[in-house]
Amino acid sequence: MEGTDKKKVYIETYGCQMNVADSQVVLSLMQEEGYEPTERMEEAHLILVNTCSIRENAEQRVWGRLDVFRQQKEQHPNTRVGVIGCMAERLKEKLIEREQSVDLVIGPDAYRALPDLLEEVESGQKGVNTLLSREETYGDILPVRRGKNKISAFISIMRGCNNMCSYCIVPYVRGRERSRDPQTIIREVEQLAGEGYREITLIGQNVDSYKWKDARNNPHSFAWLLEQVAKAEPGVRIRFATSHPKDLSNDVLQVMARHPNICRHIHLPVQSGSNRVLKAMNRRYTREWYMNRIDTIRSYLPEAEITTDVMTGFPGETDQDHRDTLSLMEYARYDFAYMFAYSERPGTRAARKMSDDVPDHLKKQRLQEVINLQNRLSATSKEKAIGKTFRVLVEGPSKKSKDDYQGRNSQNQVVVFPREETKTGDFAEVKIEKSTPGTLIGRLADNQ
Ligand code: 5AD
Ligand code: SF4
Repeated sequence: MEGTDKKKVYIETYGCQMNVADSQVVLSLMQEEGYEPTERMEEAHLILVNTCSIRENAEQRVWGRLDVFRQQKEQHPNTRVGVIGCMAERLKEKLIEREQSVDLVIGPDAYRALPDLLEEVESGQKGVNTLLSREETYGDILPVRRGKNKISAFISIMRGCNNMCSYCIVPYVRGRERSRDPQTIIREVEQLAGEGYREITLIGQNVDSYKWKDARNNPHSFAWLLEQVAKAEPGVRIRFATSHPKDLSNDVLQVMARHPNICRHIHLPVQSGSNRVLKAMNRRYTREWYMNRIDTIRSYLPEAEITTDVMTGFPGETDQDHRDTLSLMEYARYDFAYMFAYSERPGTRAARKMSDDVPDHLKKQRLQEVINLQNRLSATSKEKAIGKTFRVLVEGPSKKSKDDYQGRNSQNQVVVFPREETKTGDFAEVKIEKSTPGTLIGRLADNQ
């Protein structure tokens, strides 16, 4: 660590896409301070870990990493270690009490304080800031995107969550909802398109609650923003995540139908198929209402694929509740799902008011049944694609063979094909010949 070299910052990111986007904001802030990003922890002056609190095992993983960072610090005493993100927000000073090698603890709304807090650390103190904000969107900060292929990017459009699902830690660690100035969003879209990006995903904890009041106090919705973005760069694919089923409006579906560059994919977390459980979760929709949303999506966008999040073993979940979840999954014919066993999070309504009474083995058994069913649904959904031709955004070599390339279609399905002349970043027309539950396999449509 020679004094003349630029100082280096190393950042590890856990959790959702919001954290990925936030890490890019943090890198941008640190670059302003003269730091250079590095992929090698060993040469870093500052090690940051951007953390997730959504389930207990997400936090366990971070504790494991902090052990490694402590050892690194023992060898290089000038290294500083910072815990940022959701776990920093949840545990605050307790993090330092348990892990003395941590110098900095910074919550998701306090990243601008990082340089000042670092100075405090240099004067021998610990730096802690976990204030949540009603305004912070980091809208003026241009994220530093470091991926190798500059094809696909996330843009954060709103932060926080007002929903208060009873199991969820997010409202506590990410604060109230606030939306980003649309001008800064469009500017970023145009800039990314200019740099050659071909796909942009608008992200937020609940994108459908995007709300912006212009100078004349006229409100603008997510449907409006989505259309502005789609029109700004018709050559760029637009995705968005995540939608809350109670907030996904028909306006959004209509905007999607009008703009072919908005991808035919909706991630619509269902969590449970039982009305009783949905009520206890405070999801504010019923099974019937959700089914109706599925029907409506399919009527506007017949070619769309729908994906979801499912949770098993919520407090009080009975066998019948579980069977309701399975039958709703069958109804929705999901193409893909993220599936979890319920994990009690301290401070949430479920933790305070309900007993975590589904035994672990039953949570896991139900989870396995959900996974088995989803495998079957994924297989059926992929089989439907055989014989069809899709426009695929080429992401690069496939995992299994360098002669095969892979990318995604508009439906967000992974497509693998013999590469021939295609390059990363191309749009290729691929005709599907075979499928697995996770992948479509085909060849370039022009070369048959
Ligand atoms: N336990 C298990 N899964 C959870 N999720 C959110 N909170 C919990 C929890 N306490 C899941 C939900 C959500 C996804 C991001 O994580 O399915 O949609
Ligand atoms: Fe994890 Fe939620 Fe924080 Fe994302 S917002 S990192 S999912 S706790």
